[in-house]
Amino acid sequence: MKTIAIILAAGKGTRMKSKLPKVLHKAGGRTMLAQVLHQVRSAGIDDCCIVVGHGAEEVRQSLPRAENLHFALQMPQLGTGHCVQQALPHIPADCEAALIVCGDTPLLTAETLQNMQEEFCKTGVDGLILTAQMPDPTGYGRIIRSNNGSVSEIVEEKDATPAQKAITEINTGAYIFKFPVLKNALARLTNNNAQGEYYLTDVIKIIAADGGNIDSFTTPDPVETTGVNDRTQLAFAAAELYRRKARELMLAGVTLINPAACYIDQQVTVGQDTVIYPGCQLRGDTHIGANCVIDSDCIITDSILGAGCHLTKCVLTQAAVGDNANIGPFAYLRPGTKLGNNVKIGDFAEIKNSVIGDGSKVPHLSYIGDTDMGGGVNIGCGTITCNYDGVSKHRTTIGDDVFIGSNTNLIAPVTVGTGAFIGAGSTITREVAPGALAVERSHQKEVKGWAEKKSPKALAAKKAAK
Ligand code: UD1
Ligand code: CA
Repeated sequence: MKTIAIILAAGKGTRMKSKLPKVLHKAGGRTMLAQVLHQVRSAGIDDCCIVVGHGAEEVRQSLPRAENLHFALQMPQLGTGHCVQQALPHIPADCEAALIVCGDTPLLTAETLQNMQEEFCKTGVDGLILTAQMPDPTGYGRIIRSNNGSVSEIVEEKDATPAQKAITEINTGAYIFKFPVLKNALARLTNNNAQGEYYLTDVIKIIAADGGNIDSFTTPDPVETTGVNDRTQLAFAAAELYRRKARELMLAGVTLINPAACYIDQQVTVGQDTVIYPGCQLRGDTHIGANCVIDSDCIITDSILGAGCHLTKCVLTQAAVGDNANIGPFAYLRPGTKLGNNVKIGDFAEIKNSVIGDGSKVPHLSYIGDTDMGGGVNIGCGTITCNYDGVSKHRTTIGDDVFIGSNTNLIAPVTVGTGAFIGAGSTITREVAPGALAVERSHQKEVKGWAEKKSPKALAAKKAAK
């Protein structure tokens, strides 16, 4: 059945108290809208029309362009029914079914959407509403059934009688309709209700009155259908997404010492037998290999790690790390960092836009920026690449098996040849030939017996003796 998804995302989200359109707030690493879209696509529906309005351009820009992703504009916003009406011109004539979901329900799962679709195809009904039993149904539309048990209408909280308000079966805001039936009913909506809006929910009444067949599909987990209207609900949704991700990883063979204390975004992947300690945040497009230990308090964003790495209290952003790296504590890997295998980046080391070859070590207190470093290099404590002359950035090149003594300054652009040695404390401004020793520091002077004769202590003692 040719199905298109319509996502309602034009509303203002007044209760978020935000300059950002509501659907662009993030939960679990994605914007709510991206999360809803991801679930829709994972449920097998590729064609999608998103209705935007409030912050339309910003919302549009937040998603990558795609052939099967269309945007409709709803301006002004006159209700959910009016919203879906705006999508109609963007829907191909041969469309058979429409799945409608709200952009502010990030907890809906692909599984539920898929089950709903299957039920819709199997039963051949005109409309299927995703409903839930809510202990406290306040604020939601209530499902009204006729004597034979079929759904006859949805009544909004603000239009409900006291008896209707007591109903605990609620409309979650997700539906599938036969498209021609939906289109026909939408054309007949009025705004004769408490909010003066064109309610999408009124199509149920119209279809039922026409003799159409409406059924409900009840989700066993009402949490899934939580709509996010304010930031407390956003935090609830984020916590639930993190909880799900942690569970997914644990079931796939990842150890989380305390799953409630890890924040792992939806897109992240982690290899088997990796152990993650509390306080870690794995964000965005991050992929971690097998058998790693990610010890406490690492923040890893958009980065790739090989297998067998050990990280402690470090920050990685847009970095790529090979196998068996040992990083931290207190290391900072910035964008453009590429580490080979068996690399050590120790405490208080910062690496930026640099390639570091297999087996090289930057064990302590260093800044390595804009550098191409070979393998087997040892960088002494306190070594710094001076990559910025106040106007431009320059590169430093370090060959294989170089030994750089502690507290060296490498003034870029500069090259240190393969197997060269640099004496500690040197400031290197010129190319060092392969295999050479470069030392750049003044000769040590020594004044014999100085402490006894001229030190401040000796002078003070002499004065006191007078
Ligand atoms: C809606 C349903 C209610 C259901 C609830 C589930 C209607 C009339 N009511 O109520 O039965 O229980 O969702 O969460 O549909 N939107 C637009 N344009 C508009 C109005 C809304 O795009 O003109 C979008 C909003 O951005 C939001 C979604 O539609 O993503 C739902 O709108 P909202 O105002 O939150 O509806 P509810 O009052 O929650
Ligand atoms: Ca809502």
